Amino acid sequence: MQLLRLLSSLLVLSTTLSLPVSVSAVNGEITSPTNGTAVMPGESFDFKYDGMADYSVSGYNYSVWLFTSLPESFSPSETFGAGYYFGRYDYANYPGVPYASHPAPAQLVMPNLDARFGGFGIGKSASNALVYLAVIEEWASGSTFGFQMNLALTQLIYNGTSS
Ligand SMILES: *[C@@H]1O[C@H](CO)[C@@H](O)[C@H](O)[C@H]1NC(C)=O
Ligand SMILES: *[C@@H]1O[C@H](CO)[C@@H](O)[C@H](O)[C@H]1NC(C)=O
Ligand SMILES: *[C@@H]1O[C@H](CO)[C@@H](O)[C@H](O)[C@H]1NC(C)=O
Repeated sequence: MQLLRLLSSLLVLSTTLSLPVSVSAVNGEITSPTNGTAVMPGESFDFKYDGMADYSVSGYNYSVWLFTSLPESFSPSETFGAGYYFGRYDYANYPGVPYASHPAPAQLVMPNLDARFGGFGIGKSASNALVYLAVIEEWASGSTFGFQMNLALTQLIYNGTSS
């Protein structure tokens, strides 16, 4: 009983000490879908990228990709990676981008990679496949030789239910 009381007072003490709970700002991360989410081909999924923009940091365009095979190196290669390009988007962040002119949709649609690409490309079926949603954002703060680039990655399960 006494041990229990000691434990509970320790618990109270530790929660008190850790207050206030700091809500850390997320920057340059894919907040939706969450890591490990399963998405079926043709299914819409919520998409949200929390950009780099902050006080003294401007976020410009970001491009969204799906990699079915991650690039292994950044050397020129005909098979550099494999996947799908969703698009290039922006978001309002003053003063760099006062108004978004091509915001990302609230949902993206997982492509059916088994469909014919047209021409010589015929796609391929896959089940329970590990794929990667990637965002590359161009951002800047002060003087840089070109935009800085942020890479954010989230793992998804394509055409399956679990990893
Ligand atoms: C953002 O992308 C749009 C469309 O591709 C382009 O017209 C615009 O110049 C880009 N903005 C910057 C700051 O690079
Ligand atoms: C999804 O997985 C099933 C097997 O579970 C397979 O028959 C089907 O072809 C797959 N679909 C795609 C689009 O790859
Ligand atoms: C996603 O989960 C995998 C497996 O648990 C982990 O290796 C990876 O670092 C995670 N990625 C992110 C962005 O959290």
